[in-house]
Amino acid sequence: MNSRISTQDILLKKNREKIVCLTAYTFPMAKILDDYCDVILVGDSLGMTIYGLKDTVDVTLDMMINHGKSVMRAVKKTFVAVDLPYGTYEDSKEQALASAKRVIDETGCDSIKIETTRDMVDTVKYLVENNINVMAHVGLLPQSVRKIGGYKYQGRDQKAALEILETSKLLEEAGVFAMVIEAVPAVLADQISAALRIPTIGIGASQNCDGQVLVIDDLLGLNQEFKPKFVKNYANLAGDIKAAVEQFSADVKSQKFPAKENLV
Ligand code: KIV
Repeated sequence: MNSRISTQDILLKKNREKIVCLTAYTFPMAKILDDYCDVILVGDSLGMTIYGLKDTVDVTLDMMINHGKSVMRAVKKTFVAVDLPYGTYEDSKEQALASAKRVIDETGCDSIKIETTRDMVDTVKYLVENNINVMAHVGLLPQSVRKIGGYKYQGRDQKAALEILETSKLLEEAGVFAMVIEAVPAVLADQISAALRIPTIGIGASQNCDGQVLVIDDLLGLNQEFKPKFVKNYANLAGDIKAAVEQFSADVKSQKFPAKENLV
C-alpha cells in the first residue's frame, strides 16, 4: 500500500531536507508530479493557467473543489493543499470554516492554503481549533493585486518587512503547519525562516527557505506572456506543442495522416 506524506512529515523536513512543491490542477499532471513532489498545491493560479482570467480574484470555491477532486484522484503519495479563493474566507471565521470544510470534505485533500495578513490570524486559529490543516501565505498576496495595483515585491521597507515578519510569527502561534513566502527580499525571507519552527516554502523569496514552489505552467514554459525573474523554464512546452500541432496540420492537409498504420 502507498502511504501519503503527512503534515508531520512536512514539519520534520524543516532544516533537514528541502520541500519540493509544484502546482497542479488536473488528473494527468498530478499523476506525473506525484513521483517527484512532497506537496502539490491546487493553487488559485488556475484562474489564469486554466481559465484565462486576468488574475485570481474571480476564482470560485466550486472551481477549486473540482480541480482538487481531479488532483486527488491521481495522487498516491504527495501531500495536497488546496487554496481557498478570494471572497470565501475573509468575512468571518464561520465563513472560512464552512469553505475549508467543503474543500476538505469534497476533495479529500490534506490542507487548505489561505493568503494571510495580520487580520487573518484569528480566523486561522479558529480553523486550526476546528482541525483544519492550514498552510499560510505571506508576502505578495495575488488575491490583493487589484488593491495593491499589480504583482509587486512586498516587504521592501523596514516597516513593511517587520509587519510581514511579525504576522508570520503570529500565524505560527495560531497553528499553521507551513508557510508560503512569495516575492519578498531574500533577507526578509531568511529572517522569517530562521524565526519559525514550521517550514517555509518560497517563491521569489530565498534559497534558504525550507522548500520552493513554482506554478507548473511556468516551469514547463507553457505560458509565454508571463516570465517574472523568479520563474525558471525547465522546458518549452508551448514551443513543443506548437511544433506538434503544426506538423499535424501539415500532415492532414497533405494526407500523410492518417497513414495506413493508423487505420483499422
Ligand atoms: O495559486 C498559486 O499557485 C500559489 C502559488 C504561486 C504559491 O499561490
